Amino acid sequence: MEMERKDVGILAMEIYFPPTCVQQEAMEVHDGVSRGKYTIGLGQDCMAFCTEVEDVISMSLTVVSSLLEKYKIDPKEIGRLEVGSETVIDKSKSIKTWLMQIFQEHGNTDIEGVDSTNACYGGTAALFNCVNWVESSSWDGRYGLVVCTDSAVYAEGPARPTGGAAAVAMLIGPNAPIIFESKLRGTHMSHVYDFYKPNLASEYPVVDGKLSQTCYLMALDSCYKRFCSKYEKFEGKQFSISNADYFVFHSPYNKLVQKSFARLYFNDFLRNCSSVEKDAREILEPYSNLTGDESYQSRELEKASQQVAKKIYNEKVQPSTLIPKQVGNMYTASLYAAFVSVLHNKNNTLGGQRIVMFSYGSGLSSTMFSFKLKEGEHPFSLSNIASVMNVSQKLESRHMFGPEKFVETMKLMEHRYGAKEYETSKDTSLLSPGTFYLTHVDSMYRRYYAQVEKTVDCKSLPSGNQ
Ligand code: ACO
Repeated sequence: MEMERKDVGILAMEIYFPPTCVQQEAMEVHDGVSRGKYTIGLGQDCMAFCTEVEDVISMSLTVVSSLLEKYKIDPKEIGRLEVGSETVIDKSKSIKTWLMQIFQEHGNTDIEGVDSTNACYGGTAALFNCVNWVESSSWDGRYGLVVCTDSAVYAEGPARPTGGAAAVAMLIGPNAPIIFESKLRGTHMSHVYDFYKPNLASEYPVVDGKLSQTCYLMALDSCYKRFCSKYEKFEGKQFSISNADYFVFHSPYNKLVQKSFARLYFNDFLRNCSSVEKDAREILEPYSNLTGDESYQSRELEKASQQVAKKIYNEKVQPSTLIPKQVGNMYTASLYAAFVSVLHNKNNTLGGQRIVMFSYGSGLSSTMFSFKLKEGEHPFSLSNIASVMNVSQKLESRHMFGPEKFVETMKLMEHRYGAKEYETSKDTSLLSPGTFYLTHVDSMYRRYYAQVEKTVDCKSLPSGNQ
């Protein structure tokens, strides 16, 4: 019998970010940079970071067990599990295998999928794999599950304020409220050394920041052109930014998102789209003959296009910026945390709307794709997804540390990176019930995790007592 597979997409979501963070304003003072460089110049408010008791494995265990529990999904109903991450701790052993503990307990080891890695793009590759599986002839009728998990940390210097940490889990299946428009994908992939991790003794990347900014914008242009031409091919009309209700970008820091949307507006101007108004045309006209390379270097064009796109940016992009500005770059989870922000801010009004997503991973891999939304039925309704994720509560209950504590934590983690035979403090006083945490690493580099008691309010317990 043919299985029903209409409206394949995201049925449910959960997000987790560490409760520990540092304010960017305080980081500006600590780093001795000019006031406003991180908050206005990069557009960031706050940066989350993992302390010694959390990492990408613990965050992914936390987010998966929370999703299964909150939506009452039987672990036996999962048939594919894909992880996107660029923080691969055990190198050859996937994070996915760690997550199998949750399913093994319930007698389910029949789960395909491993990890996908390419900088911040791995989560999108994982998502495409799951969606393609549900749409394929090998689908067995069970759910797919996608996990994006990363801890973004940089060496001291200009890239450090663009760190962050989070994990996002997405349940995939038919009859979803967040439906993939599978034919509308524009991809651009090429070879470039803008950001990579060649030093296996360090968690920090080698990064050419300026090159990565230009690569990101070039990839965006290329994906947008391909996305528009797919739309024209299948819909028989021109695509412009007026054909989508929201645009969600991979967000290393907010200023790049502002520049990206302005760049789409400039593309629409060059493509002579009717959505670009007359006064905006006049402002952009002087830049119409720049070559591609010149246009990426032109500060005047950047300013002019941001100015004319500002009003639409506020409507179509700003609702996606909440979590990325508060948590920072979450690498693979960043794009999906931005999407979660739209669900959080606009969940009551999203039925029937189109959301365009832009995924970028250095190296480089990038895709623009889109979702069509419908309200959906409980528990897989947009309003329930927003309520389950409870973003306001998660943001408000965080604990602000000073920059000194952040730097001290980075130093400890540098020392611990790749190390064996150590115990963590097991201090779970800041972690919510149900959160997984690292307890120790043994002489064979094997890692051990425990979970904060679910029924007890861990904040009332003395540290190290769970
Ligand atoms: N008040 C207001 N704005 C300021 C101030 C100030 N006091 N000081 C500087 N600025 C502005 C600058 O004008 C600049 O704005 P602009 O981009 O509009 O010109 C912005 O703040 C940043 O300042 P720069 O001097 O350009 O910053 P710097 O070169 O020191 O570092 C960078 C920025 C390159 C993004 C760095 O943080 C980095 O390498 N990050 C990691 C790489 C990255 O995130 N790349 C993005 C895509 S790849 C990925 O996702 C990992």
